[in-house]
Amino acid sequence: MAMPRREQSLALAIKGYAWLPDLRRRGRGGPVPMRLLGRPAVAIGGPTAARFFYETGNVERHDAIPGPVLDTLFGRGAVHTLDGRAHDLRKALFVALLMGDGVDTLAKMTGMAFDEAADRWRDAGEISLFDETALVITDTVAQWCGVPEEQSDRIDLAWDLLAMIDGFATLGPRHVWARLARRRQEHNLARLIEEVRRQDPAPSALSAIAHHRVDGRPLDARTAAVELINILRPTTAVTWLVAFAAHAMELWPQIRAKVAESDEYATAFAHEVRRFYPFTPFLGGRAARDLRFQRIDIRHGTTILLDVYGQHHDPRVWPEPYAFRPERFLHRAVGEFELIPQGGGDPRTGHRCPGEQITVAVLGTLAQRLARLPYYLPPQNLTIDLTRIPARVAGGPRIVLARS
Ligand code: HEM
Repeated sequence: MAMPRREQSLALAIKGYAWLPDLRRRGRGGPVPMRLLGRPAVAIGGPTAARFFYETGNVERHDAIPGPVLDTLFGRGAVHTLDGRAHDLRKALFVALLMGDGVDTLAKMTGMAFDEAADRWRDAGEISLFDETALVITDTVAQWCGVPEEQSDRIDLAWDLLAMIDGFATLGPRHVWARLARRRQEHNLARLIEEVRRQDPAPSALSAIAHHRVDGRPLDARTAAVELINILRPTTAVTWLVAFAAHAMELWPQIRAKVAESDEYATAFAHEVRRFYPFTPFLGGRAARDLRFQRIDIRHGTTILLDVYGQHHDPRVWPEPYAFRPERFLHRAVGEFELIPQGGGDPRTGHRCPGEQITVAVLGTLAQRLARLPYYLPPQNLTIDLTRIPARVAGGPRIVLARS
C-alpha cells in the first residue's frame, strides 16, 4: 500500500462515529490504509466496497473481532466469528429461526405488549421510553424463544442484555458491567439449555438451539447459550432504534401522523431511522488472501473496515444525506449493498444479519404504536453524542402520556 499508515486506535476512541468518515473524506473516498490496534488495516466504504467486503472468499471473521467485544457483545464461539462450512451450518440455524413466519408473530406480540405497557404509563407521569421499551421487547422475545419466565427473571435479563450492548466499545465501568452481565446470562442460559436437553420441550428457538447438531454433535451448552443470547440481545437492541424513532418524530413532527396512518410509511420510516441514526459504526474482518481493491493492494491478514456510518451519510449514495426523509424508501427496492446497518449481501450465505426482517418489523410496529399514543416529550436533553459508541439520546427520551 502506498500511503503512510498511522496508528488510529486513539482517534477512534476520541472521535467515535466521525472517525472513519473523516479519514475517508481526507482520502477522497478511496481506501485508507492505516494501523489499528497495532496491525495493518484499510478502511473502505460505499456500495462497491460493501460488495467487495461480502464477496465470498475475500474477508474472513475468525480472529478478527477483538476479545473485549467477544466477551461483551457477541460471546466466544458465536456465529459472527465462524467462516466457511462451520459458518454455513450454524447460520442455517439462525436463518430457519429468524427469517420465516415467526417474524410477524414476534412483531405482533411486541406490539400487544407495548400497548399493555402503555396503559400502565398513563398514570405514571414521566417514564423512560428507553427502559420501558427494553422491558417490553426483552419479555416478548424471551417468550417467543421459549425461555420460561420462572427460569429467567425478565428485568435482570433486560438490564443484562442492555449492558452487553452499551459496554462493548469502552474500557470504563460500562465495559465491566457488560462482562459481568454476559458471564451471568451465559451461565444461567447454559443451565437452561442442559435442562431442555433432558426434557422433550415444545418446538421453540430455545429447543432448536439446544438440539442443533453438526456432524452428529450438539453445541456445548455454553456456546448454545451464546447463540440464544445472539437472538435475545440484538432484539433488545431495537430499543435504541425506538428511542431514535421518538427523537425523529419530535424533531420532524409532520412525520408522526404519517407513521401513525400508514404501514407502508412506518416501514419506510424504520429504514430511514436505520440509515440516519448512528448505531453500527463500521464492520471489520481480515483479508482472507492477497487482494486488490480500487488500485490498492491489501495483504493477506490485513484488517478491512467497512465504513457503515459514512456510507449512510455519503451524498453520492443518499442525496441530501442529513435530511431525514422516509419518502426515500417508498415505492422502491433497496439494493443489497446500499443500506447496510445490519451488513450487506445475502444473509443466507454471508454474515449479513439474519434478524433484519425482525428489526424492521418490530421497529415499524413500535414506532407506529408510539405515533398513535397521546404522548409528549417534557423538556430534556435530546443531544446524541457521536463520540459515544453505541450512541444514545441523552435524555432517554422521557415521555409523558396524557391520561385517558
Ligand atoms: C438493532 C438492530 C440490529 C442491528 C443494528 C444489527 C446489526 C448487525 C450487524 C452489523 C451484523 C454483522 C454483519 C456482518 O458481520 O457482516 C449482525 C449480525 C447478526 N445479527 Fe444483527 N442486528 C440487529 C438486530 C438483530 C436481531 C433482531 C437479531 C436476531 C433476532 C440479530 C441477529 C444477528 C446474528 C445472529 C448475526 C450474526 C450473523 C453472521 O455472522 O452470520 N440481529 N447484526
